[in-house]
Amino acid sequence: MSTGAENGVGRLEGAPRVCIIGAGSSGIAAAKALHERGIAFDCFEKSDRVGGNWVFANKNGMSAAYRDLFINTSRPRMEYTDFPMPDSYPDFPHHTQIAAYFEAYVDHFGFRDRIEFETGVEHASREADGTWRIELEGGEIRSYDALLVANGHHWNARWPEPAFPGAESFAGEQLHAHSYIDNSIFEDKRVVVLGMGNSAMDIAVEASYVARETYLAARSGVWIIPKYVFGKPVDQIPNDPRVPFKIRQRMIQQMIRSYAGPPERYGLPKPGHRFGEAHPTISGRILDRIQHGTIQPMANIASFEGSTVHFVDGRSAEADVVVYCTGYKITFPFFDEELVSAPENRIELYRRVFHPEIPNVFFIGLLQPLGAIMPLAEAQGAWVGDHLLGDYALPGPAELEADIHADQAAMRARYVASKRHTIQVDFDDYLHALAKERRLGSERARASGFRPPALCRPSAATTAS
Ligand SMILES: Cc1cc2nc3c(=O)[nH]c(=O)nc-3n(C[C@H](O)[C@H](O)[C@H](O)COP(=O)(O)OP(=O)(O)OC[C@H]3O[C@@H](n4cnc5c(N)ncnc54)[C@H](O)[C@@H]3O)c2cc1C
Ligand SMILES: NC(=O)c1ccc[n+]([C@@H]2O[C@H](COP(=O)([O-])OP(=O)(O)OC[C@H]3O[C@@H](n4cnc5c(N)ncnc54)[C@H](OP(=O)(O)O)[C@@H]3O)[C@@H](O)[C@H]2O)c1
Repeated sequence: MSTGAENGVGRLEGAPRVCIIGAGSSGIAAAKALHERGIAFDCFEKSDRVGGNWVFANKNGMSAAYRDLFINTSRPRMEYTDFPMPDSYPDFPHHTQIAAYFEAYVDHFGFRDRIEFETGVEHASREADGTWRIELEGGEIRSYDALLVANGHHWNARWPEPAFPGAESFAGEQLHAHSYIDNSIFEDKRVVVLGMGNSAMDIAVEASYVARETYLAARSGVWIIPKYVFGKPVDQIPNDPRVPFKIRQRMIQQMIRSYAGPPERYGLPKPGHRFGEAHPTISGRILDRIQHGTIQPMANIASFEGSTVHFVDGRSAEADVVVYCTGYKITFPFFDEELVSAPENRIELYRRVFHPEIPNVFFIGLLQPLGAIMPLAEAQGAWVGDHLLGDYALPGPAELEADIHADQAAMRARYVASKRHTIQVDFDDYLHALAKERRLGSERARASGFRPPALCRPSAATTAS
């Protein structure tokens, strides 16, 4: 068995051997944080390049990017704090520009040689002494003291559960947003798009330019946030985490209402919640296309009969294609389910990163922000890096548990109950709270003499292979 990471450049004496799964935007942010701290690591990436979801037609088969995908979080919101996107980029760049940016990030900080491409992690289990046994595609086994998981959470398509009655014999084509490429499949077709998230908005708009009919079916209403207000990308409007959330919520909801009026005005379902209580649906184009009669809002699908789609409000439509924009499952195929899993998308971690029972596994980018993931993954990577070196110490187990429970309770109280609202955070609030916790944790570390964490102690959650 190889020890892995033994030839890491600038490896600190006594520093742990670290494995990172995934070189998407989260994995590379974590890799950079370890690299600059001199912690040796091996980053395993299934694909032949970095960027994950942002690589159109990615060789890993996991990307949901479509030909005309543009980011919906603005460039300043999405870029890493120490590596701005080029000035030539627009506010909302195309996926090709985003993928190129991630490639440039890796080269700029100089850790490409630590990424093993076309090398998937097949299985990750804990030995009796707590170390990680990592089995790679092809069968090679490596051993590590710590594992950073950055395998993404938007690649395992969630189809309607259960399937709608009659779906198995629907005469037309059914696909999930994950496999949507471009609107050529809609030419002169009658198309039903299901969902009210960002995939549904983009795909309905794209269909509306070429389809004979486009129906947008929904089971719940959402507040549709424009991409721009007051001439600025909407996420560039100041959002001070020190101002109580309720006040910010009222102001933003008022702003959306004054921009577009209530969604019901467009024939869309009335949201059963206030702004900020569901993952944001951002679209500068959907209301325009509805108001031009090119998209017809419908209720949820009730059933299929031949080529007819029946909706729950009693209406029906003939359809050739149905696109399910019904979200994704959080999945870790390399863990035994009893070790780590996320049934119904639920996974309880300390601040979305630290596992309460396994001291040497850390999750990067496993959150759904009101805002972009990248700067949050960057902060998480730095946080874990400090922890591995003993520069940050966690609170005690009781405090950790209490924090997790309080966080879960707050999320349940605030958000609409849905499998899409299990890992939510507010961008600015999360960063603010993380900075505070890192200060507290560095005080704790100082008090204990900067002792590195006991990563490899066995725990109840050990599975020897
Ligand atoms: C259509 C769409 C549009 C989006 N738009 C935005 C946006 O505008 N702004 C925003 O902030 N977020 C957006 N997101 C969210 C998206 O999750 C993030 O942008 C980003 O891709 C998260 O990066 P990641 O590294 O966590 O995951 P991914 O990008 O999914 O990368 C995960 C990487 O891990 C690798 N991997 C997985 N399993 C293994 C394994 N077993 N072994 C080795 N390697 C493995 C994969 O090959 C991949 O490279 C969007 C999501 C979708 C689906
Ligand atoms: N341009 C962009 O940048 C862009 C484009 C696409 C996606 N994204 C991102 O990608 C991620 C995934 O977005 P997504 O839109 O694919 O998924 P999503 O946000 O999870 O939305 C899923 C939608 O499907 C509905 N739904 C789920 N199951 C259903 C069922 N059985 N019957 C009827 N409706 C059902 C949900 O309704 P409920 O709310 O009732 O559960 C919700 O409206 C998000 O982070 C999103 O921001 C970004």
